[in-house]
Amino acid sequence: MSQRLIVVRDLSRLRRQVARFRGAGEAVALIPTMGALHEGHLSLVRVARRKARRVIVSIFVNPAQFAPTEDFASYPRTFEADVAALRAIGADVVWNPPVEVMYPAGFATRIVPEGPAKAGLEDAVRPHFFGGVATIVCKLLLQSLPDVAVFGEKDYQQLKVVMQMVQDLDIPVRIVGAPTVRERDGLAMSSRNAYLAPAERATAPLLHQVLRECAGRIAAGARAAAALAQGRKAIARGGFALDYLELRDAKTLAPVAPQTEAMRLLVAAKLGTTRLIDNIAVRRLRP
Ligand code: PAJ
Repeated sequence: MSQRLIVVRDLSRLRRQVARFRGAGEAVALIPTMGALHEGHLSLVRVARRKARRVIVSIFVNPAQFAPTEDFASYPRTFEADVAALRAIGADVVWNPPVEVMYPAGFATRIVPEGPAKAGLEDAVRPHFFGGVATIVCKLLLQSLPDVAVFGEKDYQQLKVVMQMVQDLDIPVRIVGAPTVRERDGLAMSSRNAYLAPAERATAPLLHQVLRECAGRIAAGARAAAALAQGRKAIARGGFALDYLELRDAKTLAPVAPQTEAMRLLVAAKLGTTRLIDNIAVRRLRP
């Protein structure tokens, strides 16, 4: 078990702390988050603890990845509870920079990710999003210089965008993807689930059910187009406003070719005003 958890809000202090870890020969893992922590986030801490002696969790609600119409102001903020959960699980550092540290006056540089960031999935609905994510994740990686950074498969396109960026910009960190943690009824855990009204919460697991059914049909040899059309109908019938349900190459997020073996089925849909995303692996069974 680690000693005490420290909360750091000053960049030079973070750097001194990381230097101390490194000086002691300890590997460092970073988990970027926007707080409102749930079991999904905590599972990333557990993965990180297996990969590195020291775990830094950043908590920063990044204004640059929200469009003006989105939920930046109302995004859930539960800092005290987050710190208590991280202390209990044995994280070492909470990096909680004020906005002026991340975006000081005169800030004028942004990362413009392409490739998986232009796959026509989240980017089609939230064109500002991956630029904001890539810029902040790049900063977080350069601030804490971790050996490993852990991201959830829950945000699969984001994971691919970060992997691509790290490779393209020669950032010396290993990106690790961790499986999606779900509620008992299959709903992927998300800070935004807190927005769901009780009736919406009861409907929400349908998204995962449809993913599973659709993936099962494709794995068993059904034509993807037919399985997807059926899935889209089921989601609409459930009362969701569908943004996309798409089958993609799991590595590149490009449209699948007949020979593509590792595939990913990705969905985004709104239930009332709450936008939910989810995805699962699909593997074609070879006869
Ligand atoms: P946030 O939504 O707080 O998520 C932080 C990390 O937790 C991400 O890597 C996300 O994929 C992971 N995560 C969320 N729900 C999960 C679940 N149910 N199971 C497993 N992992 C889950 O993603 C962001 O913040 C931001 O875009 C960020 C990367 C911090 C940049 O601002």
